[in-house]
Amino acid sequence: MQNGSLPPAPESADRPTSPLPAGPAPKSLYGGVTSRRVTVRDLAAAKQRGERWPMLTAYDAPTASVFDDAGIPVLLVGDSAGNCHLGYETTVPVTMDQMVMLSAAVVRGTKRAMIVADLPFGSYQESPAQALHNAARLMKEAGVGAVKLEGGERSAPATELLVQAGVPVMAHLGLTPQSVHAFGGYPVQGRGDEAAHQLLRDAKTAQAAGAFAVVLEAVPAELAQQVTASVHIPTVGIGAGAGCDAQVLVWTDMAGMTDGHVPKFVKQYADLRGVLGEAARAFASDVIGGSFPAEEHSFH
Ligand code: KIV
Repeated sequence: MQNGSLPPAPESADRPTSPLPAGPAPKSLYGGVTSRRVTVRDLAAAKQRGERWPMLTAYDAPTASVFDDAGIPVLLVGDSAGNCHLGYETTVPVTMDQMVMLSAAVVRGTKRAMIVADLPFGSYQESPAQALHNAARLMKEAGVGAVKLEGGERSAPATELLVQAGVPVMAHLGLTPQSVHAFGGYPVQGRGDEAAHQLLRDAKTAQAAGAFAVVLEAVPAELAQQVTASVHIPTVGIGAGAGCDAQVLVWTDMAGMTDGHVPKFVKQYADLRGVLGEAARAFASDVIGGSFPAEEHSFH
C-alpha cells in the first residue's frame, strides 16, 4: 500500500439497493415526519383534530418497508394473508405460527408505522385467557404494537383482559371475514334497523372494553358515519364510505396484484400484476434468447 491508498476493493456480489423515488410527502401528519413508531395516542389525537389517516395491510418486510417509507402510519398484518398471500380461499385456515412469522417480517421491515396484527380464527374465541396468550405471542415473538380481533359484544371480555394487560386492541365489526361460513359469503352488513342498532351497540361496547380503534367493514356509509360520530375512538373504514376517521385497503387489491374478483369498494392505484408479469416475460425472453446475463452481469 503506498501513500496511504487502499488496495482495490475485492469484487463484491452485492449491489447497492436503489432508493425509492422521492415523492411528495403525504399530507398525513405521520408521513415522513415522525422518527419513532406511531402510537395509539397519536391516533387518538388525530381523531380529536379531525385528521384522517390511511392504513394498508402488509405481509412481508420489503412491501412493508415501501409503505413505511411512503408514510403510511398504520400497517395491518391482516389474516387476509390467508387469501392474499398464502394461497388459501379464506382467512379461516391461518394459524398463529403463520401470523407470528409474517408479523415479525413486517416489524423488521419498518421503522415508523404502528404494526397491528390480526388474531386469526380460533386464537381468541375460546376464552379471554387464550386471547391474551396469543396476543402476547404476537407482541413478544413478532414485536407488534397492537392486535386486532373480530366482534364487538361477543369479544368484549377478551378485549377487556387484553387492554388490562397492556395490549392495544383494534376491534373489527360489520363484515368479519372469519365468519364467512356463517354469513354464507361476504354480504354487506348493518342493513335494516335491527342490524344497524347491533352494530352501533358493538362499536360502543368495543370502546367501553378499551379498544383504541374499530374497523368497520362493508357497512352502509350512513351507518358508518353515525358510528364515527357516536364513538370517541377512530373508526377505520373498508367499504364503509367516506365518513370514517381512517381508511384501510388490502394492499394486493389496492396495487392491482389480486388475481380474480376485486370488491366494489377497492380503488386500484397500480397494476402491479401487469408490471411483474411483463418483467417476468422480459427476463424469460432474455434468458431464452441469450442476452442475459450480459458482460456487465458477469464476474472474471
Ligand atoms: O385481514 C385484513 O386484511 C383485514 C382488513 C380487511 C381490515 O381485517
